[in-house]
Amino acid sequence: MNFKPRDIVDQILPHRTPAQNQAKAYAPANIALCKYWGKRNETLKLPLTGSLSVSLAELGTHMQCRIAETDRLEINGQMQAADSKAFRRLFSFLELFREPGTHFHIQSTNTIPMAAGLASSASAFASAVNCLNLLYGWELSDRSRSILSRIGSGSASRSICAGFVEWYCGEQPNGMDSYAEALDETWPAFRIGILCLSDAEKAVSSGVGMQRTMDTAVLYQSWPTQVARDLPLLRRSIQDKDFECLGKTAEQNAMAMHATMIAAWPPILYWKPESIRTLHRVQQLRAEGVAVYATMDAGPNVKLVFLEPSQSDVQSAFPEMQVVQPFGSTCQD
Ligand code: PMV
Repeated sequence: MNFKPRDIVDQILPHRTPAQNQAKAYAPANIALCKYWGKRNETLKLPLTGSLSVSLAELGTHMQCRIAETDRLEINGQMQAADSKAFRRLFSFLELFREPGTHFHIQSTNTIPMAAGLASSASAFASAVNCLNLLYGWELSDRSRSILSRIGSGSASRSICAGFVEWYCGEQPNGMDSYAEALDETWPAFRIGILCLSDAEKAVSSGVGMQRTMDTAVLYQSWPTQVARDLPLLRRSIQDKDFECLGKTAEQNAMAMHATMIAAWPPILYWKPESIRTLHRVQQLRAEGVAVYATMDAGPNVKLVFLEPSQSDVQSAFPEMQVVQPFGSTCQD
């Protein structure tokens, strides 16, 4: 049977009667240490492999939803046209959850710098699901909210939880076993550095990019093998607080993902000269003894991972870097 998003939503939602007129919710953005790259089912956004990320604490999306006369969407205080990409994508998702004739006024505020090209769909779709959960009084579990968010955008499945999060690939055709869960581990000294290198809109979306890679890159055949090696290494390095293993695995995983894109046709080359300069600078810092590693997603920006004791060295090399503390501000380990 070919399941449609509506079938899955019907299976999860207890009803479609709003419990109140408005609700507010938040979801963090997330950065994958082992990437999600490729789907086994396009409509349900079921991944070909598992992935593992870290959520960005206070950097994400705050969303307010009010029952209204007509559909309206404001992002960071700016009203979006009904034919804009953001409006159409969000409302075609919201359509799955409401009775015909119900309209929403959505106000969405991103705390992640929009200019960094990081205001990803992940925190937007996860905050929308969190918001509807309150508006309708559904009291859904984390697992159900993760599955629903996944239908909006794959990586949104991981934005339901804080800290380290694993999204299970699953194998059921209806995707009910493909959801994300927080790892039972914290690492207070863990830091993410965000480098805003380019704010140009990307020419190839992540969805188009992963499909093209699967369809045309022979190298993509190696991707599931890469993930099968990296996921257990990351789980173990988080558990053992082995930062060198975590950093190496995360950087190699990101480079391997980009290798598959570059091997697609036409090639998908998100890197800009500044991205390459940054990657070289990271290698140079490591040669000087600073434990810092890089990761990149479907765009030219670079994110760094390091521990609190290296923060001043990394910050002096990248003065414009914004630092995120995924586990709060105490740093004893
Ligand atoms: O959920 P999407 O369609 O935005 O895909 C995200 C894909 C990557 O950011 C490249 C990797 C990941 O796991 O976040």
